[in-house]
Amino acid sequence: MEQKDLSHNIKRRDFIRTGAGFAATTLFMGLGASKLFGAGRSVATSIIESVTLNNGVKMPRLGFGTLYLTDELGVNCVSDAISLGYRLIDTATVYGNEAAVGGGIKKSGIDRKELFVTSKMWVDDYGYDTGKKAFQTSLDKLGLDYLDLYLLHRPRGDVKGAWKAMEELYKEGRIKAIGISNFEAHQIDELLSYATVKPAVNQIETHAFFQEEKARGELKNYGIQMEAWSPFAQGRNGLFTNKVLAEVGKKYNKTNAQVSLRWHYQRGIVAIPRTSKKEHMIENLDIFDFELSDADMKTIAPLDLNITQFPEWE
Ligand SMILES: NC(=O)c1ccc[n+]([C@@H]2O[C@H](COP(=O)([O-])OP(=O)(O)OC[C@H]3O[C@@H](n4cnc5c(N)ncnc54)[C@H](OP(=O)(O)O)[C@@H]3O)[C@@H](O)[C@H]2O)c1
Repeated sequence: MEQKDLSHNIKRRDFIRTGAGFAATTLFMGLGASKLFGAGRSVATSIIESVTLNNGVKMPRLGFGTLYLTDELGVNCVSDAISLGYRLIDTATVYGNEAAVGGGIKKSGIDRKELFVTSKMWVDDYGYDTGKKAFQTSLDKLGLDYLDLYLLHRPRGDVKGAWKAMEELYKEGRIKAIGISNFEAHQIDELLSYATVKPAVNQIETHAFFQEEKARGELKNYGIQMEAWSPFAQGRNGLFTNKVLAEVGKKYNKTNAQVSLRWHYQRGIVAIPRTSKKEHMIENLDIFDFELSDADMKTIAPLDLNITQFPEWE
């Protein structure tokens, strides 16, 4: 991962010198971009680099979250996001929107192979038989015949049975990578005591106010990719108007949202921002033409409150 980041940096600098101006201009043409390049060929596709997971599967380093994007809104947001260049789409059974996400994928007209689709098994379905059934239900709702990433949503209940089901589905090739969400180190250790497949990803709450630096180090040691949910803390605690982030952003003419996403990116964390607005979809992709300095990263570090912004989900 460390080595990969280095090569990414080189590639990124080359890209900034050569193509970023053109790409950013094209992105800011809004939906014009999808018309120009076709649904499957947005210019942003070439901007979003991938990280290679511990099983060799490539995962985009920036994606699109879909919590609360249900029904018609979900269909349209997912379709728009894909048209604008997002390739990683994150959903979950408990969001109640897998059918809408599937509808958006279909509407976009994109080649399935270009996408990286994540869903998550909810705790009520944990167990071997129930887990397998839940996976098939998710696939059916999404209208897909495989998932790129399937996660255990929370470390509760029959994790062992659920993981066994996930491992079998993975070995059958029906899921390209399997992982976990909201797992702490001791829960990962327990899972690793019986797992035959190591989780590829752990998706956890991470943003400027809950930076999870310790978990970042631990996951690097495990060889598990860290993915940030609520990368903006849903705007809680005033993230979008935070003065420290705004000061940093002013130097690069970037918003707090863009500084946040760039900060995740430079920490080697995959982020999945959610938005229902096209202008925000475009803004959130426009983070590849600047680089936060070490001093900027040090300025952002003290924003950490080291506590969840979502106590109601604990
Ligand atoms: N594994 C888990 O337990 C877990 C838990 C929570 C979330 N997730 C995943 O993580 C994804 C992201 O997290 P989230 O949805 O909780 O919240 P988030 O991405 O941190 O924040 C979403 C909020 O930010 C606003 N926003 C987005 N871009 C913006 C911009 N450029 N400027 C200003 N406001 C902006 C959106 O409003 P607008 O619509 O107005 O833009 C929305 O209110 C979820 O959608 C879901 O896929 C996973």
